[in-house]
Amino acid sequence: MKGIILAGGTGTRLYPLTALMNKHLLPVGMHPMISYGIERLRKAAIKDIIIVIGKMSAGLYMDYLGSGEKLGVNISYKIQEEAGGIAQALSLVEAFVAPDEKFVVLLGDNLFLDDLTPYVKAFKDQPLGEARVLLKQVLDPRRYGVAAFHNKDKQRIAYIEEKPKKPPSNFCVTGIYMYDTEVFNHIRTIVPSARGELEITDVNNIYARSGKLSFNRLQAWWTDAGTFDSLHEAASHLKGVHP
Ligand code: G1P
Repeated sequence: MKGIILAGGTGTRLYPLTALMNKHLLPVGMHPMISYGIERLRKAAIKDIIIVIGKMSAGLYMDYLGSGEKLGVNISYKIQEEAGGIAQALSLVEAFVAPDEKFVVLLGDNLFLDDLTPYVKAFKDQPLGEARVLLKQVLDPRRYGVAAFHNKDKQRIAYIEEKPKKPPSNFCVTGIYMYDTEVFNHIRTIVPSARGELEITDVNNIYARSGKLSFNRLQAWWTDAGTFDSLHEAASHLKGVHP
């Protein structure tokens, strides 16, 4: 199984820090943000990793991570010329995965302490053509993609609503996704959203609506460190944590 970390984007919510460098290289505790996701993958025995980065700070990624050897992983890079949404970034790595291969996708600003191993195992046991997302109960779901569950069966996601005004639950869809190569066919069928992006939520809804989207709930701490408040929270939470 391979790992894909999406670490491009413009990071406008963290401007002016992101005028200096890409968001995923900003310090969180004692390490750059990107280090934590790499370590979560390594711990789950996923050591072949491709990182999608923008042109900005590309040299800094090479300087810090290199081939990944010092971190015990094998890292490749793919340049995203222009930000076009999570699904667009994901489409860039199609050539990196073998036909029918399964992989884990992390958004590089999602920081968390759960061990991915049991979730990855559950996904390995699913049939090809399905997907799995990880959910987290949050206080303000309106900032995220939010899961709506089937009325009778709370174990099944009916659909996901992106940034809902009236959230259908308080379970947000974290930026931790599991797919196989079928996802690239689904990405080819979606169109840009109102914010001009190819939305991963539209892709996940293709799975949800055909009953092929499984999920787990994260048990430990999680944040999306894309705002000043959450970056600050992440830094204090991960202060003594060494990825
Ligand atoms: C993205 C996804 C959203 C998800 C979130 C998790 O939002 O679109 O569904 O809940 O990541 O971090 P964005 O950060 O692009 O607004």
